[in-house]
Amino acid sequence: MKKIILTGDRPTGKLHLGHYIGSLKNRVKMQDDYKQYVLIADMQALTDNADKARDIKSSVTELILDYLSIGIDPNKTSICIQSQIPALAELTMFYMNLVCLGRLERNPTVKNEIKQKNFAGDIPVGFLAYPVSQAADITAFGANYVPAGEDQKPMIEQTCEIVRRFNNYYGDVLVEPEIILSKTPRLIGIDGKAKMSKSLGNTIYLSDEPDEIEKKVMSMYTDPNHLKVSDPGNTENNPVFIYLDAFSPDKEKVDSMKAHYERGGLGDIAVKKYLNEVLQNLLEPIRLRRKELAKDIDALYEIVREGTSEARDVTASTLKKVKEAMNLDF
Ligand code: TRP
Repeated sequence: MKKIILTGDRPTGKLHLGHYIGSLKNRVKMQDDYKQYVLIADMQALTDNADKARDIKSSVTELILDYLSIGIDPNKTSICIQSQIPALAELTMFYMNLVCLGRLERNPTVKNEIKQKNFAGDIPVGFLAYPVSQAADITAFGANYVPAGEDQKPMIEQTCEIVRRFNNYYGDVLVEPEIILSKTPRLIGIDGKAKMSKSLGNTIYLSDEPDEIEKKVMSMYTDPNHLKVSDPGNTENNPVFIYLDAFSPDKEKVDSMKAHYERGGLGDIAVKKYLNEVLQNLLEPIRLRRKELAKDIDALYEIVREGTSEARDVTASTLKKVKEAMNLDF
């Protein structure tokens, strides 16, 4: 039996290079050796956007386009939509009783998001509890592994705690998952300030046009003390070199550029030009495939309906075991 992988994203817009290097690349690589489910977490997206339910659909379409254009293959990976899988909501109800409020309040990712989102004391219950619903996602599929960015670590820890408590109360039913972090679990933004994220406006999207990519690369933050070409420069904490490490297929070239930059004599423009070339080469085939796929949106949704139907069966079977273990099988 193949081991099971579950990954997922909230549909909140297009995916960017941070998503690509943090988990999408792993998904494409791992789909050959594992049974993979990719969950479009539209219910999780609602936890801090309840008033914008109507906007979620277009983001779902963007996500499907991103997935298929980077090479997620529907013959190997099932893409499914959270709100169309009822067992996830039922499991969430059972798991809520296995988690304390204080534990949710201490979740570092949730804490961070609360700060960013300015809830001003009015935190939706569904938002605070979304790690519980994510535990339902992960366990419903019986996932052994979750390839994800570093910010998802607390969710996996929370899931493992729920699994242990459930199995301890009711018998060995649920599987404890492990996170699989990429080599670059968190990509700095083009402004060098924080991680790449839509809300900070420091992203390069997988679907950006060539001129946008070039403009963004040429505007990237580098070493602020590297003023003259002849000055020795710093390559650490320098987003341009961090991106080259993450995306260039030619490691030797990157190493020699780093050495040159550190010695002095290599200008930012030359490095950025090379980075632009690397990113154009990476993103061009993705963008072209995306445009092709966008011509037939119905066909995309057919793929997702099939994936969701399979997901409904798998998760219903977990729910059945859960209810039996809890003696709720009337
Ligand atoms: N929390 C993830 C995000 O912020 C989305 C998600 C929901 C997820 N359920 C999941 C990720 C299950 C991995 C596994 O995008």
